[in-house]
Amino acid sequence: MEADLVARLEEKERQLERYAADLRETFKAERAREAELRASYMATVRALANAVEARDAYTGRHAERVAAYGLEIARAAGLELADDPQTEFGFLLHDVGKVAVPDAILFKPAPLTDDERVLMERHPAIGSDILRDIDFLGDAKLVVRHHHERWDGQGYPDGLEGEDIPQAARLFAVADALDALTTDRPYRPAGTFADARRIIADGAGTQFCPASVAALDAVRDERLEELRT
Ligand SMILES: [Fe+2]
Repeated sequence: MEADLVARLEEKERQLERYAADLRETFKAERAREAELRASYMATVRALANAVEARDAYTGRHAERVAAYGLEIARAAGLELADDPQTEFGFLLHDVGKVAVPDAILFKPAPLTDDERVLMERHPAIGSDILRDIDFLGDAKLVVRHHHERWDGQGYPDGLEGEDIPQAARLFAVADALDALTTDRPYRPAGTFADARRIIADGAGTQFCPASVAALDAVRDERLEELRT
């Protein structure tokens, strides 16, 4: 009788071990699928971002650089959004709406007319429309739509003001300006990081979110230089 009981208990134990082993295998397979999915999301986002940049030899790799600056500034500010993949997706895709802006406007080596500016300023809304149904992008779409809003409410497309502007978009605006000011343009050579910091600091509280400008101050020039290259 007792031997029978022991045998049954041993069988139960073996069964439990088999269940545990099955669960471990399932879990491992699930993790591998998740990693695969994440990698293909990232590849898709990069492909889209590259499709936009391929038109513009001048700004070459602007999206990658500005994404790196933006994430570094977010980390300096200790923001959780620095670790959210959707933040990086938004940074990489911010100008995807420029696919709808004609070359003659996008590459015009002179100031835009009022009509041309209206067309140019549609790119954030167009970009967020293009991405509308892609669920995995989540808050990335907010960066795309709001990256040209200004802290004082004078930006576009929605004229949002202050903290009504999504945090990632406020922070991105600083990174975007930093890259624009430190890159050669048809009408002027690149400025230094020191020049760019001065100009951005002047815009704190009007164009830019003061906390995001302060976060940029916490990132050293040497680090920015590393990210640029
Ligand atoms: Fe833009």
